[in-house]
Amino acid sequence: MTTQALLNGPSTPRVLRMLKLIAQPLNYLEDYAQRYGDPFRVGEKNSPGLVYFSNPQAIQEIFTADPELFDIGRGNRVLRFLLGEHSLILLDGDRHQRQRRLLTPPFHGDRMRAYGELIGDITQQVTQEWTIGQSLAVRSYMQEITLRVILQAVFGLHDGPRYQQLRRLMSSMLESISSPLSSSVLFFSSLQKDWGPLSPWGRYLRQKQQVDQLIYEEIRERREKGNFDRSDILTLLMSARDEVGQSMTDEELHDELITLLVAGHETTASALTWALYWIHRLPDVHDKLLHELNSLGQDAPPSEIAKLPYLTAICQETLRIYPIVISSFFRVLKAPLQVMGYQFEPGTVLVPSIYLTHHREDIYPEPKRFRPERFLERQFSSYEYLPFGGGNRRCIGMAFAQFEMKLVLAAIVSRFQLTLTNRHPVRPVRRGLTVAPPSNMRLVVSQLRARNTLAERS
Ligand code: HEM
Repeated sequence: MTTQALLNGPSTPRVLRMLKLIAQPLNYLEDYAQRYGDPFRVGEKNSPGLVYFSNPQAIQEIFTADPELFDIGRGNRVLRFLLGEHSLILLDGDRHQRQRRLLTPPFHGDRMRAYGELIGDITQQVTQEWTIGQSLAVRSYMQEITLRVILQAVFGLHDGPRYQQLRRLMSSMLESISSPLSSSVLFFSSLQKDWGPLSPWGRYLRQKQQVDQLIYEEIRERREKGNFDRSDILTLLMSARDEVGQSMTDEELHDELITLLVAGHETTASALTWALYWIHRLPDVHDKLLHELNSLGQDAPPSEIAKLPYLTAICQETLRIYPIVISSFFRVLKAPLQVMGYQFEPGTVLVPSIYLTHHREDIYPEPKRFRPERFLERQFSSYEYLPFGGGNRRCIGMAFAQFEMKLVLAAIVSRFQLTLTNRHPVRPVRRGLTVAPPSNMRLVVSQLRARNTLAERS
């Protein structure tokens, strides 16, 4: 008997399980973890199934195991319709490693810090028309900021008709598969039917076609111009050669670009929206943050802002309490593996559960409470705190997303006093493959401030 036959898990039929996963993703995890313990198993009796883990030791064993033991790209095939088959997210083995080496540097170190001013400028542009009394659907503003930032980083584009069209189309294309209901098409491929431009899938397909066309046009134009002096990511990818001197095809370029655009802005926009929610829900958190921001000089450089401890702790706690991606990519075993003494057979899908790990009482006392101080009091290992996953698939945008979050939050909190329109707790909802604040969550602008106003308020 294999070990997974000994693990407990629900016997609910697959369709019902999937519906719960779509409609109540966090309850799905919490209910099963409570009922069946850690790890628990889901799947038919005669299949290897999926095994969810939240114990840091298990997570460490999975993240540090030989990556050759897993098919991970294959586990992400559900995303092929959006990202294309050459996307980093869908690759495994040598190709994955090679593309990762190419795509990682622009989001780190000096290359990343060079975007500091740009992030500040874009935040200023997007928020400059906010006026006292205005009620803001914050998510759409956060999405606008993160989309403009990533378009600039990836294409070096900040204006012109192609940039404007891409901005508009990317947003509405992703919106069309994001609501809790329309997200179902991601889980049930039988729903991916083109019933014409008014049907959700039909609309998605048409917008996707236009986005693809714009990206291919940009690639073609760049090839014709042969301008390799620029520092954007497209230029970098176009000049890269593999070990036999081969450059990337248009299709490969397209798939990596769209991957960065999708992965690089939706997630950060959700994280920013949550951070604004917590900051304005908890006056103590707000005041401590404002105090810290006021302690900086008027024109503090982005690098100084990014070092602020309380601001950093707010961002960490935001991604702990409601991680945007609730489980790491699925690790599909290609060979037998032991994890915490359990023996798993090939075909088993190992799932490090980010959400469940972040809600363990033994690591995070009072896990349902938003308390940034916990990150100032102790350090958590990368197997206890893993909002960006781990191992050879750890998010390549991790440093960039945290940098962006801090700069945007600092700019908004030091300029605007905002108030939540509704005092009821806001619950996370499904948004495509992620879990996010509802897009109708609103904040009202109650005051515009010059810097250093905490003293005036208190
Ligand atoms: C708050 C924002 C973000 C969160 C919470 C997040 C989370 C994640 C997670 C959980 C993974 C899977 C890791 C694993 O399975 O071990 C991942 C992978 C990835 N992320 Fe992010 N991400 C964020 C922002 C970004 C940004 C800004 C970019 C692009 C610049 C990005 C690009 C990617 C890519 C390309 C992968 C695939 C890596 C691979 O397969 O090797 N993400 N992200």
